[in-house]
Amino acid sequence: MSENKAPFYITTAISYPNGRPHIGHAYEAIATDVMARFQRSRGRDVRMVTGTDEHGLKMFQTARDQGRATIDLADEMSEYFREMYAKLNISYDNFMRTSDAAHHAASQAIWRAMEANGDLYLDRYEGWYSVRDEAFYDESELAEGEGGIRLSPQGTPVEWTVEESWFFRLSVYQDRLLALYRDQPDFIRPESRRNEVLRFVEGGLKDLSVSRTSFDWGVPVPGSPGHVMYVWVDALTTYLSGLGYPDTDGDFGKFWPANIHMIGKDIVRFHTVYWPAFLMSAGLPLPKQVFGHGFLLNRGEKMSKSLGNVVDPMALAEQFGVDPLRYYLLREVSFGQDGTYSAEAIVRTANADLANSFGNLAQRSLSMIFKNLDGVVSSDYASHEDDRALMAIVDDACRTLLPREFEQLAFSVGIEEWLRAVFACNHYVDTQAPWALRKSDPERMRAVLMTLFQAVRALAIAIRPVVPAAADKLLDQMGVAPDARDFDALEEADWFAALAASGFTVGQPVPLFPRLELPEGAGEA
Ligand code: MSP
Repeated sequence: MSENKAPFYITTAISYPNGRPHIGHAYEAIATDVMARFQRSRGRDVRMVTGTDEHGLKMFQTARDQGRATIDLADEMSEYFREMYAKLNISYDNFMRTSDAAHHAASQAIWRAMEANGDLYLDRYEGWYSVRDEAFYDESELAEGEGGIRLSPQGTPVEWTVEESWFFRLSVYQDRLLALYRDQPDFIRPESRRNEVLRFVEGGLKDLSVSRTSFDWGVPVPGSPGHVMYVWVDALTTYLSGLGYPDTDGDFGKFWPANIHMIGKDIVRFHTVYWPAFLMSAGLPLPKQVFGHGFLLNRGEKMSKSLGNVVDPMALAEQFGVDPLRYYLLREVSFGQDGTYSAEAIVRTANADLANSFGNLAQRSLSMIFKNLDGVVSSDYASHEDDRALMAIVDDACRTLLPREFEQLAFSVGIEEWLRAVFACNHYVDTQAPWALRKSDPERMRAVLMTLFQAVRALAIAIRPVVPAAADKLLDQMGVAPDARDFDALEEADWFAALAASGFTVGQPVPLFPRLELPEGAGEA
């Protein structure tokens, strides 16, 4: 196991609060949160930053269409994101709103640094712009849609735009970017996204328009009245302002550069081409990794308001429970690829893995200790080869296999390793049949139940980043102190003897994962 205890900084993309959050936003927040919790549990000092991206034409136009002030729309919708994070148990440290004054100051500071480096110049922009993507596109990238309208590579409409604009000398960074991808092969993950970016940059880079004059909703360009920054310049700067930049003492000094920017596959170009170029220009260190996760589809279909299949994460959490939802999203989707969501699949996975396997294991182990041993935990028993074999499987999964996979963001693989250990425990219960030993060999029954107690504790600690509330509820019932629930605690040899010596007894256990029922009509559609 790696003993890396260096500070760890992880971010989500900051979402446009032009509407309520959907399951795609929840997915990204949950994956990022699991990584943040996992690293904390590994003993690292973690910062997780998230927030809302409130500038740009999309926000401006949405508010205008609703006949309200943009800040009013941002205030309302940003609050829904916070509510969703609270509901889903997202352990962020800082929620940034780009309309905040402190964020404006940070964006102006990086602007000035790029300007001082000679990378900004004033010119006229003439080209295509997609409001939905908030992105400029080259003619060669566009496709033709129905009725001859032009579409971006993301399938969104583009409009011809002509205005005075500040430009960033992106073209001069081509070689340095290619060197970055070569020297730091993990900078862009997964591999498929890296290849896309390489092809794009090898094709040559044009200078980037970085200010707008046709509207005023944004961060003012310093010393250039009438110009607001292109929304992506200030949006990306959230990763710095979230650590207190331009103040370089404190969190920024400690946590920058970021370990991981967690984002969706549609915004990889902004994070792996524009962002490192801005940072190089400003003389700031580069993030270690950008991970472009896949999209979550509703029964295999893209979610969109027009299809009427947008899934509300709050309703899902309410219906199925927060931990089952978190578990399902990470277990079911191979991280990095697209995944599909359906109510049936959540119910099936949560029932099979959580209720019937892990929950049942915990419930029957604790309940037999409670009933057959008066709840008494004791380390004074003769262990059998079978007990040691089981603990070897459990320890290997919890201390080595799951952490190894989670470090690589291979959540579904790590969870499978964990689940294999859960299955081994259930198999052990069935073959040892402690209920039958009660009369025939009570000493052996005690050894089996004590082995199970230790196995369940390790399994709960390992899966805690994924299902924090349920794991804590279980560990509370097992007398495991709140500060002894991290991966380091799994390395301690004498915790069990100490718990037994403390006189702790197991009470009547409470179920962790109720069996879920499919809501009426959910199987159709
Ligand atoms: N505001 C920009 C990001 C700026 S980061 C400096 C943005 N916002 S967004 O609201 O459109 O998307 C926020 C995040 O959610 C992005 O990482 C995006 O890829 C992700 N997702 C949006 N829809 C998604 C799914 N259906 N599935 C998974 N993730 C999805 O882009």
